[in-house]
Amino acid sequence: MNELEIKDLNAYYGDFLAVSQVNMDIPDKSITAFIGPSGCGKSTLLRTLNRMHEAVPGGRITGEVALEGQDLYGSGVDPVGVRRKVGMVFQKANPFPSMSIYENVIAGVRLRNKRISRKDADELVERSLRQANLWDEVHDRLQTPGGALSGGQQQRLCIARAVAVEPKVILLDEPCSALDPVSTLAIEQLLLELKERYTVVIVTHNMQQAARVSDQTAFFHADAEAWAELTRLEATLGDKSLPQGTRPPGRLVEYAPTDELFNNPRNKATADYLSGRFG
Ligand SMILES: Nc1ncnc2c1ncn2[C@@H]1O[C@H](COP(=O)(O)OP(=O)(O)O)[C@@H](O)[C@H]1O
Ligand SMILES: [Mg+2]
Repeated sequence: MNELEIKDLNAYYGDFLAVSQVNMDIPDKSITAFIGPSGCGKSTLLRTLNRMHEAVPGGRITGEVALEGQDLYGSGVDPVGVRRKVGMVFQKANPFPSMSIYENVIAGVRLRNKRISRKDADELVERSLRQANLWDEVHDRLQTPGGALSGGQQQRLCIARAVAVEPKVILLDEPCSALDPVSTLAIEQLLLELKERYTVVIVTHNMQQAARVSDQTAFFHADAEAWAELTRLEATLGDKSLPQGTRPPGRLVEYAPTDELFNNPRNKATADYLSGRFG
């Protein structure tokens, strides 16, 4: 089944078109990786999947993103509710540093349910920390500050906080880029466990990581040459809809099962990127 369906999605910052015409289906209970050179719109697209993009100044979209068949941008849809169903973990671990490990885990839950009982909260904290493979390391110091943990532990704490609200989807934007190899491996192992319960979408600049953990991979690229040609063509046709001289938008170049994309890319730009010829 498809968890997320993205249709004709364009993402803008003001007048700047950052991501153009993305169509893709993201299957549930699997890991989807977004790869591509810096600036091709991976983070922007990721943020459109839980309506975080519109929290950025000038951020807006056209098109559709459906979660389990329901348009996340439909009228009357509450973005806060969307972000509960589609959680997000960032590049830099961002626990509340002076808040205890315990309170960090249930911070999101408390926003919605202030009267959660002590017993329910205890159970939820343990369950979430276990799901994040962090329980064994912190169960005897739950009242110490989250900021005192190592970088890799803080990232797993953020994952525990994300799973505590019982989302359907977890988005991760380069979650390992600040981590050492051992912590990175721990997160990768964790992602493989999380996909049993959740739909996982990960942006990574690390192609080996995409190859190791993902079930399907999407390659994005902001192709300057193709864009220049398109804008020239449109100019000769007298169509001024594309602003001249602007940076090209990122586009989804190729999307396939990960083995297929890595071993047998169909697009030349994908092959060039994978073999390190650019980006
Ligand atoms: N807050 C912002 N305001 C304006 N432009 C932005 C903003 N964030 C990103 N961009 C631009 O959007 C494009 C895509 O950026 P981004 O999604 O961060 O790419 P990636 O994650 O693939 O590196 C880039 O040209 C970038 O400069
Ligand atoms: Mg990014």
